[in-house]
Formats: sequence, C-alpha cells, structure tokens
Amino acid sequence: VVVVDVLRATTTMVYALAAGATMIVPCREVDDARQRARNFPGALLGGEREGLPIDGFDLGNSPAEYQADKIAGRPIVLTTTNGTRAIDSCHMARRVLFAALVNRSAVCRQLEREPRVGIICAGTNGQVTSEDVLLAGAIVEGFSLSDADELRCNDQAWLARAAWRSLSLDPPKLPALIAALRDSTGGRNLVRLGMEADIELAALCDRFAVVPALDIREGVIRLQ
Ligand code: MLT
Repeated sequence: VVVVDVLRATTTMVYALAAGATMIVPCREVDDARQRARNFPGALLGGEREGLPIDGFDLGNSPAEYQADKIAGRPIVLTTTNGTRAIDSCHMARRVLFAALVNRSAVCRQLEREPRVGIICAGTNGQVTSEDVLLAGAIVEGFSLSDADELRCNDQAWLARAAWRSLSLDPPKLPALIAALRDSTGGRNLVRLGMEADIELAALCDRFAVVPALDIREGVIRLQ
C-alpha cells in the first residue's frame, strides 16, 4: 500500500527523513503524540491541527521546518489531521510506503515487482482531494511507463491518471503543477493560512530518491 498526502503529511515525512531524522513516529491524537515522545529519547514533536502548529510542539507541518541542523539524528513524533490517520487504513497491508511528488519516481521503482498495489489518498476530512488524486495518477503513470501491457487498474486509478495527464507533461512544468496544487483543497487551505511556500516545496518532483516505509512491528516510519 502507498499512502499519499501531498499537502502536507507525506511530503513533510520525506523532507524530514531526507534531512536525517532517524524515524517518524506517526500518532493519531495530540495527547498520544505527547505520551509516545517520552519513549523516544531526543524526540521532537511535530504536526498540525487545522494546518497550524500545535501548542507546545517543536515543529509544525511545513516541510521547510525540517532542516538537518534541527532534526538530524532525532526521531520525529508526528500527528496530522488526515495524513497520519490514513495509516490506520493500512492494517491489512504486507508493506506500507509513503509517497509525495518529491519522491514519486523512487516509490514507483520500489513497487515495480509488486503484483498488487493499493494507493490510499488521505484527502481532507473524509473527502477526496485533487492534490492527492494527482499524485495517485502520477504513480499510476509511473507504472504505465514501465509495465504498460500488464497494468490492470480500477476506474479510480484510471481517473487519477487522467487528472495527472491533464497537466500535459510528465513531470508537468513547475508553474502548471504549482497552479494545480494551489487550486486543490489542501492548496487553498495553505494559501488562506499564508503558507503558500509549502506548495512550492511539495511540487518539486523527484527532489529526493528516498522512500519512507512503515515498520509494521514497531509502528514507526524509516527510510526503506
Ligand atoms: C493532514 O494530515 O491533514 C495534512 O497534512 C494537513 C496539513 O498539512 O495542513
């Protein structure tokens, strides 16, 4: 299963692990995060509610905050409104990876030999959001390029790929992708909060070649 929350949970996870965080400890609730942080020496608390940093936490949910000088060598205990919750939908999965536009190709490479893949879009409050559908489509497109004859998808996956293809190029031109993300539910929310810079960081296709994966036994996320 691949979990997708472009704006911003999975994007932030990729930035954090690429900057040297040792692991992400995903938590559903704020209190749960505060409690679990006690079990991880040196842990930093990160996340958001309604897009904003949480009182008393070390970090919000902006990828820009997750810089090596602050987080390298430390675990991040993360709670976000929809992204960390989407992990709950993966309890039957044998393998759980985390995708963003910034690591799309690396994720597709990891999935090449998997016979069956589910893409879980975090969305917003139970609603489908176009930013996540675009990335789901980009992942389907990634498969289409490598395995066109064998690929079997449900209609949701084909619709997602059509959304991605509507941006014309793969990867799309950066301004077109930023415009599409700004128009999405998550994008409009970030613009409203004055956090537009996060959209630009999220749109940098394949900036990283790292793939976060869930350690199912420990319930933490590390680089594959
Ligand atoms: C979420 O998990 O709902 C998002 O990451 C929201 C956000 O970043 O503001």
